Amino acid sequence: MIRALRPQDDAGVQTLYAFAFPDEDLTQLVRDVAATVDTAHFVAEQQGQIIGHICFSPCHVGPNPIALLGPLAIHPDHQKAGHGSALIKTGLSAMKDRAVQGVMVLGDPA
Ligand SMILES: CC(C)(COP(=O)(O)OP(=O)(O)OC[C@H]1O[C@@H](n2cnc3c(N)ncnc32)[C@H](O)[C@@H]1OP(=O)(O)O)[C@@H](O)C(=O)NCCC(=O)NCCS
Repeated sequence: MIRALRPQDDAGVQTLYAFAFPDEDLTQLVRDVAATVDTAHFVAEQQGQIIGHICFSPCHVGPNPIALLGPLAIHPDHQKAGHGSALIKTGLSAMKDRAVQGVMVLGDPA
């Protein structure tokens, strides 16, 4: 199930990032992004466990409202099963509803 993030998901999201990025501590980054006004967060939940998370933060290129995609994480036990794609599609659809004119992503081109 994909749904919007709820405040009670915080611990599950932090645990997810610890597994998805074992060599990097993204705790503060995820908290800082979560505190950004109007950031859209979605989670993938399976049997009560948060197995995926994505966020889209509002920003501008000149006068044009756009969104920055990231971070994005899927739990290693659930990768390559389409959950990352599903979260991205959900987020892109939500950005279209907000009349965002583009989405940028920073990361490894692969
Ligand atoms: C990268 C990540 C989000 C992909 O999520 P996922 O649920 O495994 O991806 P999907 O199953 O939806 O796959 C979507 C496509 O991406 C490809 N893909 C998945 N992981 C990939 C990787 N690490 N490198 C390159 N391509 C990848 C898949 O092959 C698939 O391509 P296809 O549609 O042509 O077959 C997930 O592997 C992850 O969380 N990795 C660790 C954290 C990370 O790197 N996050 C992204 C940077 S913030």
